[in-house]
Amino acid sequence: MSETTNKNITKSFVDWFRSAAPYIHAHRGSTFIISIGGEAVQAPHFSNLIHDIALLNSLGIRIVLIYGIRPQIEHCLKTRGVQSRYVNGTRITDEIALCCVKAACGEVHTEIESLLSMGLSNSPSSYERIGTASGNFITARPVGVREGVDYCYTGEIRRVDATAIRRRLDEGNIVLIPPIGYSPTGESFNLRTEELASAVAIALGAAKWLYLIENEGIFDSTGQLVRQLTLLEALENEHYKRQISKSVLQACQNGVQRVQLVSRQTEGALLLELFTRDGIGTLISTNPFDHTAKATINDVGGVLALIQPLEEAGILVRRSREKLEMEIEHFTVQERDGMIIACAALYPFVQEKMAELACLAVHSDYRGADRGGALLAFLEREALQLGITQIFVLTTRTAHWFQERGFVGADLDSLPVKRRTLYNYQRNSKVFVKDLSVSLKIKFRH
Ligand code: ARG
Repeated sequence: MSETTNKNITKSFVDWFRSAAPYIHAHRGSTFIISIGGEAVQAPHFSNLIHDIALLNSLGIRIVLIYGIRPQIEHCLKTRGVQSRYVNGTRITDEIALCCVKAACGEVHTEIESLLSMGLSNSPSSYERIGTASGNFITARPVGVREGVDYCYTGEIRRVDATAIRRRLDEGNIVLIPPIGYSPTGESFNLRTEELASAVAIALGAAKWLYLIENEGIFDSTGQLVRQLTLLEALENEHYKRQISKSVLQACQNGVQRVQLVSRQTEGALLLELFTRDGIGTLISTNPFDHTAKATINDVGGVLALIQPLEEAGILVRRSREKLEMEIEHFTVQERDGMIIACAALYPFVQEKMAELACLAVHSDYRGADRGGALLAFLEREALQLGITQIFVLTTRTAHWFQERGFVGADLDSLPVKRRTLYNYQRNSKVFVKDLSVSLKIKFRH
């Protein structure tokens, strides 16, 4: 291997580790529900998925794993020569089906437990033991007779014993929960995995429900994968709502901070979703994933890190930390999951009804989605509220960007006197002005 390739590998490893570390830290001690369908269990690389779950446990994440058994039940019924019966998508669990449910649970449970018993491979201590736990955590009742149809041993969740589950998690175990609930009369009921995962996530107040699904997530009307949605967006848009199940919405509405739909077919799906900022699936949460807000003193470090490369390239004027600390209230930042990915500052000259737009920067990983444009629009609204009618920029390299957004070239004389005296002739920036009253009028005419 050449020395440059070596250096590149080192750099990408170091960059990758630095970007994953905040998530390793953030996830430690959190409770995650992971739900998988019975199809995942039959897939060729199922052991990789289970080993990734073991890895999460070793990083201090409290995991409850909930599995489905639909194909295993189907298979069992078939070998007995019995047809599955469904009404409105719900299985009718008669005596024979219940036998199959129990057999399928036994099979899948054992498979998962045995894979987890392999511990963490390639670890320095060669064999890192992982504990699993299960129990009678779920109390169920029969769905009963509906519209004349008796659902027999198909059940609904009545209660989740969160205290008992927490105790097992406190001991460091991965808790495995089969889709079976028990009634106080000593009967067993077949439950829907999705409803179970939602109920357990709510009962535990889980930080996340990682829902491993057959496709990649939620798609918009043009067929693009939607990376994140707020609960409100999900509820207001019929197209999205149709793709999201009631159980998922319920979890979001009842305190589960994030539901993340991830393809079970992608190798390393959980790791990619959990330890990268952008994930790979669809994240649904009550709080927006991206948000724009006025900067505070706590944002100084993040803004500095963002603008430093642009200062080094001479695109932005250098600012010391002290100067930034003093001016931070002029800044607006766009955050993604706590990281500042764009910023801009607005300095008003109230008397002249003008404001300077400065220090507009977008992180290199997030260019292309016109975040700069969105930030500009945000600041224009703010400026109008302050009674400002014109904003100006001084730029050496990005004139086009501003011209495309309604700025026109202007003389130094058009700047407020106070700003003119500070003009750096050596830098020789060009002045561009945007008349906000004009853009307002155009907006109203439409
Ligand atoms: N890794 C972060 C998390 O686990 C962010 C994931 C973002 N995912 C997404 N589909 N937008 O919370």
